[in-house]
Amino acid sequence: MKSVKPTIYVTRRIPQAGLDLLATAFEIEVNPHDRVATREELIAGVKGKDALLCLLTDKVDAAVMDAAGPRLKVIANYAVGFDNVDVGAATVRGISVTNTPGVLTDTTADLAFALLMATARRVVEADRFMRAGEYKGWGPMLFLGQDIHHKTLGIVGLGRIGQAVAERAAGFHMRILYTSSGRARAPKEVERRCNAEHRELADLLRESDFISLHVPLTESTYHLISDEEFDLMKRTAILVNTSRGPVVDEKALVRALKAGKIAGAGLDVYEREPECEPELRELDNVVMVPHIASASVETRTKMATMAAQNAVAVIRGEIPPNLVNPEVWKKRAR
Ligand code: GLV
Ligand code: GLV
Repeated sequence: MKSVKPTIYVTRRIPQAGLDLLATAFEIEVNPHDRVATREELIAGVKGKDALLCLLTDKVDAAVMDAAGPRLKVIANYAVGFDNVDVGAATVRGISVTNTPGVLTDTTADLAFALLMATARRVVEADRFMRAGEYKGWGPMLFLGQDIHHKTLGIVGLGRIGQAVAERAAGFHMRILYTSSGRARAPKEVERRCNAEHRELADLLRESDFISLHVPLTESTYHLISDEEFDLMKRTAILVNTSRGPVVDEKALVRALKAGKIAGAGLDVYEREPECEPELRELDNVVMVPHIASASVETRTKMATMAAQNAVAVIRGEIPPNLVNPEVWKKRAR
């Protein structure tokens, strides 16, 4: 009997290193369009496949899993966050879900710091001014921003990325506060290494000059930052979000910025991507980039390799290195 290679649907072209690795174990079908697959394309693509490699822009729910059919064994998400996958639905169907933690930690922390600095020092606004030919000579009052060094940084979520942001802040002699949403305090050795003091969220918001968000999107972090929280912040505070858009109530953010409740925001993520509150685009004190925190050549290549390794492991009957629902394998072992 002729042996048939397992099949995988890849929802959008990823770096070649990942595709090369997948080719060692799979017959690959890649969405031919370089854009987010439509729901119809996703459902048609995954039908009858053994594996799915998807992006954070693909909503993979029970209906998609059922459309795939009983062969589907692994959903390899090309992201550290996996709020786009219904993990519970995958678990009851015996499907492994994997992510790509670790490799994007420093890259994401770099961008969080870039947004913090660009917003505080008005880099993008000043760049626009220069390009418009408006620079007429050095001025004592030209583009005054805020110091970063020796200020207080509030880190919401001291996980891997939050810790990497704290390491960067150390070089700027910043005082570091942190809160862990819902979870217990960070281990003492993490607090020591990051030189971070624990605060309840309300106190962190009151005391911080910069607030950087590093929590996953869950029911308890949805709209974690809304009107009430903006009311607690300093009028000179700058909010940085490289986590997930819905962690911030975006309409409340616009209200806070327009009312001068806070001084600025550096944003990588938005509540309804690829949309954003239109008024954000009109505010000079907002620096906005299109969800590029992990977008370095090195990291995206590593993410592709990692997602591929996860898919290949499952298809070979091995526990994948970055499994988010270990229950699936416990059930199997019994
Ligand atoms: C990016 O946002 C990721 O979760 O990897
Ligand atoms: C992701 O790497 C995290 O911060 O847990």
